[in-house]
Amino acid sequence: MKHIIDLSDLTRGEIENLVKNAQEIIAHTDDYRDSCKGKVMASLFFEPSTRTCFSFQTAMMRLGGSVFGFSDPTLSSVSKGESLSDTVVMCSGYADVLVMRHPQEGAAKAASLYSDVSVINAGDGGHLHPTQTLTDITTMFHYRGSCDAMRIGLCGDLLNGRTVHSLIKTLSKFKDVTFYLISPPELRIPAYLRSFMMTNHMKFYETSSMESVIQLLDVLYMTRIQKERFSDILEYEKLKGVYILSKRKLRNAKKDMIIMHPLPRVDEITVDVDSDPRAVYFQQARLGMFARMALLLRQISFGREPFQVTESNTTHRCKNPKCILSKEKNLPLVESMGRCIYCDSELS
Ligand code: NCD
Repeated sequence: MKHIIDLSDLTRGEIENLVKNAQEIIAHTDDYRDSCKGKVMASLFFEPSTRTCFSFQTAMMRLGGSVFGFSDPTLSSVSKGESLSDTVVMCSGYADVLVMRHPQEGAAKAASLYSDVSVINAGDGGHLHPTQTLTDITTMFHYRGSCDAMRIGLCGDLLNGRTVHSLIKTLSKFKDVTFYLISPPELRIPAYLRSFMMTNHMKFYETSSMESVIQLLDVLYMTRIQKERFSDILEYEKLKGVYILSKRKLRNAKKDMIIMHPLPRVDEITVDVDSDPRAVYFQQARLGMFARMALLLRQISFGREPFQVTESNTTHRCKNPKCILSKEKNLPLVESMGRCIYCDSELS
């Protein structure tokens, strides 16, 4: 798999190999300090980021490689009206790997059609966030030794939270995972993901009450309400603060449950939880750097190969207003099994 757009494109074996390599890097970090010497990573962040951007940059630095790019698109030629495909063609000529975050769903997939080197999706709108999932899986292996036979509570904005979408899709590869999807009715998982879970016979329960399931969980994965994805700010104001995990609410939770969060946190976990031994979210962020080191090593090993022109195979333009197709008019219109290949929405 030359590009990492969706972690669930990898086999379970490939994902476990990445986790094993991350563990090996944690144990012998110094041995890797020249592994990417002479290699260059392009860091194209069209949307704000702290953890993902910094952890990719430090991952590359710890491998001995170099980094260029932008974290504010208003300082790049994008602000002059350059298309995404032109930016990608040009940057892939300079770099050995492209790491890209973009506010539009499917943007990383679009970029991969124009790149001679591996593209890694660092988040595409509310769609997917595969390297956060690799971080999350590495964290579960680190603290619980496996992702099999886990009862996982996903809590918060399950509609717009791309980390949740990626995690659900990827954990379909593991055995006996049960999901407790905790959200207000307005923020339940998107329709495409619900049909993915049903088609793949995944076990899940939907509830709006954290208190009613917390005692069952091995992992509680908190997320923030994704303010920037709301078209109506009043709707956000109504839903913000709906879940707040406090020390008191943890009273009924298992002693070995772990509390994860992709961060940044707003107010969904009170600071008194930070000192609880079950709270692993800051360690999770650090583990993400090692997971990304393992991923960069793998993706750079694919080298450079000229991209093939992709032809349209449909005349249907995706109707999802958040899809990259609504912004970039020159992309090929491609569908796979009735879905838009960029954002996964149904085309009919
Ligand atoms: C997440 C993201 O950007 O989707 N953060 C991250 O990458 N660590 C979660 C979020 O922004 O809420």
